Amino acid sequence: MTLDKELINRIINVTSKAAISCHKFIGKNDKISADKAATDTMRSEINKLKLNGEVVIGEGELDEAPMLYIGEKLGAGGSLNIDIAVDPLEGTNFVAKNLPGALSVISIAEKGNLFNAPETYMDKLAVSNKIPYDATDLDFPLEKNIKNIADALNKDIKDLTACLLNRPRHKEIIDKLNRMNVNMKLISDGDVSGVLMVTDEKYKVDIFLGIGGGPEGVLAASAIDAYGCKFQGRFLFKNDKDIIRAKKMGIKDLKKKYDLNEIIKGDSIFCATGITSGDLVEGVKVQDNKYTTQTLVTHKSSKMCKIFTREDIIKT
Ligand code: FBP
Repeated sequence: MTLDKELINRIINVTSKAAISCHKFIGKNDKISADKAATDTMRSEINKLKLNGEVVIGEGELDEAPMLYIGEKLGAGGSLNIDIAVDPLEGTNFVAKNLPGALSVISIAEKGNLFNAPETYMDKLAVSNKIPYDATDLDFPLEKNIKNIADALNKDIKDLTACLLNRPRHKEIIDKLNRMNVNMKLISDGDVSGVLMVTDEKYKVDIFLGIGGGPEGVLAASAIDAYGCKFQGRFLFKNDKDIIRAKKMGIKDLKKKYDLNEIIKGDSIFCATGITSGDLVEGVKVQDNKYTTQTLVTHKSSKMCKIFTREDIIKT
């Protein structure tokens, strides 16, 4: 079995079930229980699939179980060997506080093709496929990236929008964007969605930038691969423990800037199911004894980028 249509349906089932399991925690101010429900469901659903999977992006390491940990083996066996990146609940605050944009997210690639990333921060840049590849770079000054995007899109700088997490660590970037009169979409959480917003003009985001979670960076890179968009990321290590972990994972150059094709290679499937409604997909709906879910799916080899809606009968 390759990463084919049948597998896509099965992966949609995994994130849909995980999203549904979170539904009862929306607005309950309990992000731990919501995350646990999504994680437990994701694990048990993947374990029903005929594949040999290994978690390369997860929620911590073995000592931090019961979350889906890096190195955890998943699946019911078979001839398909895959790497799995998971974020069963992306936006724990969104579910806890009943805010838009919570997702259940997974990405899979054939064994050895998905970056084995440590749980640390990552400095990120993403732009649409309409911008020439060399026009932007994580190492360019912000002003240069913005000017080059404006030139490539034939827009005024004042008509561009940059999306980034609203965090004190981004004060300098925010001040610079202000001075340049660039519009901002400052998000409170959920930078997988933030990155995905460069994929389509309808989201009105011309660049995603700034520091967020490393695992979320890998997931976002795999999501936008099928769109042919640009992503670059550089890990940032807070302390010696992070550095030791990274080295154990085989990262030699701690300052390396990674291009998308070094983070994910070959074919891949990315699925993000809405838990609460957001910019990308609707959240879980309950009506007429059934759950309705929406899942954004990207599949590299078929260049598929599509939203699937499905219904699950509520078992009483
Ligand atoms: P959780 O769902 O794990 O709470 O993560 C939400 C998130 O906003 C990510 O999308 C983002 O990458 C990260 O947290 C940013 O981390 P921090 O809140 O420490 O700035």
